[in-house]
Amino acid sequence: MNLLIMGPPGAGKGTQAETLVKKLGITHISTGDMFRSAIQAGTEMGLKAKEYMDKGELVPDFVVVGMVKERLSQPDCARGFLLDGFPRNVVQAEELDETLKSIGSSLDGVINIVVPREKLIKRVTGRRICRSCGASYHTLFKKPRVDDICDNCGGELYQRTDDNETAVKNRLYVYEASTTPLIDYYSKRGLLRNINGDQDIDKVMEDIFKNICS
Ligand code: AP5
Ligand code: MG
Ligand code: ZN
Repeated sequence: MNLLIMGPPGAGKGTQAETLVKKLGITHISTGDMFRSAIQAGTEMGLKAKEYMDKGELVPDFVVVGMVKERLSQPDCARGFLLDGFPRNVVQAEELDETLKSIGSSLDGVINIVVPREKLIKRVTGRRICRSCGASYHTLFKKPRVDDICDNCGGELYQRTDDNETAVKNRLYVYEASTTPLIDYYSKRGLLRNINGDQDIDKVMEDIFKNICS
């Protein structure tokens, strides 16, 4: 099964993706996580991407598209994949369609997580991420068992450099301007599934599962 999960910053894409890929046995492809790994590794691409990410701007299309094409060609994507945070505008969506077509593949569904705007800033500014495995927590809504330590792997939790109020406001603005046209794009193709993301994390998962398996 080839899926895509979309929604504004803080909607819960990464949180739901973590569980969903395990349940379905598919590969998680998060462009945000890929950039953060590149930054941690200190690559040239990572350093360039960081300039855009810290401001809450989109990394240029040619960089993202090239990176995703390369990732989709890897063998672990043949069992199915879940794209998280890509595409983010119509140009990227068209490039994705072309790429999948060229390898005889296509998307089976698009999960659109809907959350009221006023809840998003609180979710994003309270988020903490595991430095080792990338798992996502929240200081109020998804606390680790031990403060600042990952439940899965014991890694140290940190706050993303773009999870401050200024960058988040710009990310929300960029989402509205560039990414919301994709709702129409995928709706017209009969792929869009709207999911209420303003519920408990487990309930959101349940709704996603019901929706994509029916
Ligand atoms: P990316 O990492 O994709 O960030 P984003 O889209 O802003 O989304 P987030 O990761 O912030 O939110 P999420 O929906 O995953 O929320 P999460 O599950 O963690 O991209 C970062 C940057 O990289 C971009 O700004 C851009 O610069 C660049 N980039 C990436 N892809 C690109 C592309 N295709 N093109 C160009 N540039 C690109 O949840 C958030 C918090 O809420 C967590 O603490 C979680 O525990 C909590 N939470 C989750 N669900 C619930 C719930 N139901 N109830 C209560 N709390 C919840
Ligand atoms: Mg995420
Ligand atoms: Zn961890």
